[in-house]
Amino acid sequence: MSKNRTVFFCTDCGNETPRWEGQCPACGAWNTLVKEPDRPGRGTARPVRGARQQEQPIRLSAVDSNELLRWPSGLEELDFVLGGGVVPGSLVLVGGDPGIGKSTLLLQLAARLEAGGRTTLYVSGEESPAQVRLRAERLGPAAAEVRFLAATELDAILDCALGAGVTVLVLDSIQTTQVPELDAAPGSINQLRECALRVHRFAKENGVAVFLVGHVTKGGEVAGPRSLEHIVDTVLYFEGLGGSDQRVLRATKNRFGSVDEIGIFRMTAGGLDPVANPSELFLGERADGTGGGAVVPTMEGSRPLLVEVQVLCAPASFGAPQRVATGLDRQRLAVLLAVLEARAGLPGFGQLDVFLKVVGGARLSEPAADLAVAAALAGAALGVPVPGDAVFLAEIGLNGELRPPYQVERRLGEAARMGFARALLPRQAVPKRLPAGLEPVPLEKLAHMVRWLREP
Ligand code: TYD
Ligand code: MG
Repeated sequence: MSKNRTVFFCTDCGNETPRWEGQCPACGAWNTLVKEPDRPGRGTARPVRGARQQEQPIRLSAVDSNELLRWPSGLEELDFVLGGGVVPGSLVLVGGDPGIGKSTLLLQLAARLEAGGRTTLYVSGEESPAQVRLRAERLGPAAAEVRFLAATELDAILDCALGAGVTVLVLDSIQTTQVPELDAAPGSINQLRECALRVHRFAKENGVAVFLVGHVTKGGEVAGPRSLEHIVDTVLYFEGLGGSDQRVLRATKNRFGSVDEIGIFRMTAGGLDPVANPSELFLGERADGTGGGAVVPTMEGSRPLLVEVQVLCAPASFGAPQRVATGLDRQRLAVLLAVLEARAGLPGFGQLDVFLKVVGGARLSEPAADLAVAAALAGAALGVPVPGDAVFLAEIGLNGELRPPYQVERRLGEAARMGFARALLPRQAVPKRLPAGLEPVPLEKLAHMVRWLREP
């Protein structure tokens, strides 16, 4: 019954196949199937039938629907991305490039939770106690109170956590953790899956919140992505922004909150600092009079964020003019240039090189940013400065018509809070109640925005 069966795993997607093939039947990747023995003793590790207490179903109406219990850590940006705090019994995967700050973030989290009365354990399979101690010293006295264990064997780690009555466990990293009886190298798909499954069971059975650090592959995904992401409750990615000290934490899966929320931090000499006012990061120096910079209140998840678009136009020397866009889809740029020429009477982009940049390393993927991009382009082409006290908010159609975005009130609220005085937006999108200090400039079509730029 428990005869060792050989199976093949795709190193890209984790799919299991009974025989070797050149192409993974699940994700279509080539040459990614590797041979690994099936989990040994799959049957024997389980308790014997009958020894287990029989499970009883209950009606959903009998389930306690009280608010999900949460432990806010006080590291607000992280609490926010998690959906309001750490959930007991949850399993969270934190992915990111080496050196981005995953270990720092989780040590800071553990320190906060420990100070808040939780029993925490930080396990590292990558760094020595001395190394982690050095990091803790930079983070302040609270971090030194976190319990530490240098270990890689999963069952020993879980036993230690259970023995110490731990309620928050950090495993740094899932790639160095292993189940030795499994005949597979640490970090291999088979090990990752087995470790994640066991940790998952441990978290649920004991109500322990577990954070797994996962290294990302060149493609930017946690190694063995799909197999792990299915098992855990929440997937967070920690990444840099525009090559600076800014860090963004994103939830791409969250069973206890919404996805697409972001938290912003700054890496300092004393650890990660939550950035309370993220809009400031994406506004340039706002040097007025240089022309070409326009601001859009975008939405990142449920959060409004002001982002500046800058454009430089220069006479094209020969051949096809250059179109360089950072933080914006090039095709979107091409469409907006064509619409500005055809519908707003702006001639001459054919003779101009266009360089566009979204400030602060942000990416504009929302159609609602069209009007700000068009304003920056028009301002640069006409040589008129875009007024620094205005925000732009509309999607632009191919006929030069303007479409209203969603969540107008929240966006305008953020613009007013950041000191902007005027908002250009489609007439039908002007809300009944406007935030104090913000004056609407209602527009019918794109050409009206260009006319306004000439005489604001
Ligand atoms: P680290 O948390 O080790 O990254 P990861 O676990 O994702 O590999 O942090 C890496 C970088 O952060 C490292 O280059 C040093 C820097 N750092 C600071 O700038 N300030 C600090 O307080 C700490 C602890 C680290
Ligand atoms: Mg690390």
